[in-house]
Amino acid sequence: MGSVDVQIEVGNAGAKVEPNIYGHFAEHLGRCIYGGIWVGENSSIPNDNGLRLDTVEALKQLELPVLRWPGGCFADNYHWRDGIGPRDKRPTRLNIWWHQGESNAFGTHEFMRFCRAIGTEPYLCANVGSGDPEEARSWLEYCNSTQVTSLTKERAANGDPEPFGVKHWGIGNENWGCGGSMTPEHYADLYRQFATYLDGCDRNAVLIACGGGQKWNERFLDGLKGYEHLVDAIAVHHYSGHGLPDVTYEDRQYYGLLTAVEAMNRHLEDAARVCRERSSERHQVKLIMDEWGTWYREATVESGLRQESTMADAIFAGLSFHMFHRHAADLVMTNMAQTVNVLQALVLTAGPKLCLTPTYWVYDLFKPHRAGQVAPTTVRGPSLTLGGRVIGLCSVSATVTGKEAAVSLVNADLESACEVRASFPGSSLAQVKSARVLTSANVRDHNTPESPDVIAPTALDVKIAEGALAVTLPACAVAMVEVVLSD
Ligand code: AHR
Repeated sequence: MGSVDVQIEVGNAGAKVEPNIYGHFAEHLGRCIYGGIWVGENSSIPNDNGLRLDTVEALKQLELPVLRWPGGCFADNYHWRDGIGPRDKRPTRLNIWWHQGESNAFGTHEFMRFCRAIGTEPYLCANVGSGDPEEARSWLEYCNSTQVTSLTKERAANGDPEPFGVKHWGIGNENWGCGGSMTPEHYADLYRQFATYLDGCDRNAVLIACGGGQKWNERFLDGLKGYEHLVDAIAVHHYSGHGLPDVTYEDRQYYGLLTAVEAMNRHLEDAARVCRERSSERHQVKLIMDEWGTWYREATVESGLRQESTMADAIFAGLSFHMFHRHAADLVMTNMAQTVNVLQALVLTAGPKLCLTPTYWVYDLFKPHRAGQVAPTTVRGPSLTLGGRVIGLCSVSATVTGKEAAVSLVNADLESACEVRASFPGSSLAQVKSARVLTSANVRDHNTPESPDVIAPTALDVKIAEGALAVTLPACAVAMVEVVLSD
């Protein structure tokens, strides 16, 4: 058994974890929307006017702060007017990226209804690649304007007299690739044009630019010199686990996946540096990671990017959130890909059946971190050297809210439990509010719609020893301990 010494400096807690770091992403892809979220009113699967009820119930529990839609690559192939008005009159289009028909049954109003049902804030991504500034601007007017205009009257006639108040607007998606194969300079020109009209239409809209690697980000922001005020945030994407099998991976491949967290960290560091360099006292360009997660070899266009999600995904998610907390000063949102049935999903469905993935449970466990301030934390414990890199096998992240601290722990070791002693210099532990752990004997274990209860959190036994926290964390585990501190 490894022993781990943790020091949590609650007195020096710094940047706040923006709740939107726990955001999500749903695209018209495979069975994410159709089958996963929307089944239609005539389905035998229980639904509320077409919205799948078991999915709604599951996601409502997570209180996801924000949900990005309609893509992804689909966003630059989507024309929002196709998805409003009587459903039987909506056109069927070709979803060119995911090689499927698009009935447009699920459009803006259905998405807003879904967001209201699960208690999340909508984040829309406008079409730059095959759209124009007026199409994007009119979508914003349709959604947000409080004036009486033809568009807002149309919104009311379509069932929503009150504006949707959509705050976050992405201007294109991966415009270096599926969003138009643009150069950063060309995208910067288009971005200025789109952003000018969106900003004019709604000064409160948060405008989000498509980011990329360091060079793309630099060249894009060079192209925006003097117009940086039009960029509230740059959004980058980072997928991990390419080439690995979703379930039958070897232990060494699992440990290799953990090193991908460091690669994502470097991507964020580079992007954050560029954002900081181009920010001024008056206007800060913030950072978003609006697509991330695992992408295994089973997730192909043919499979609708469907893959299983095992405990490895939970460990990967836990470590990634710890890394995101370290970027809290710059990072204002992340959106894992994708919510239902696609990539590192929260929920998987098969016909009328549904299961919650281990990743779902990480979102659930980590809820107390939202809006807390990150406390500097030192962890001394067992590590592994892989490809010349040292990976700590036990990771701890702590956030402070008033007199309470949320301490999440990940034991990535597949063999050994670890004996953790966490102290809070300058404070002591008065009470343990709650303690839960997600673990399984085999890292490859996973829930399926047919066997949904293989993995779920259970109570974790923790003790207070001389004002510190003492806990034995099983191998292959993600845990959350909420504590109350005293001086
Ligand atoms: O999430 C799947 C796809 O990955 C998205 O559509 C695209 O933006 C990215 O390449």
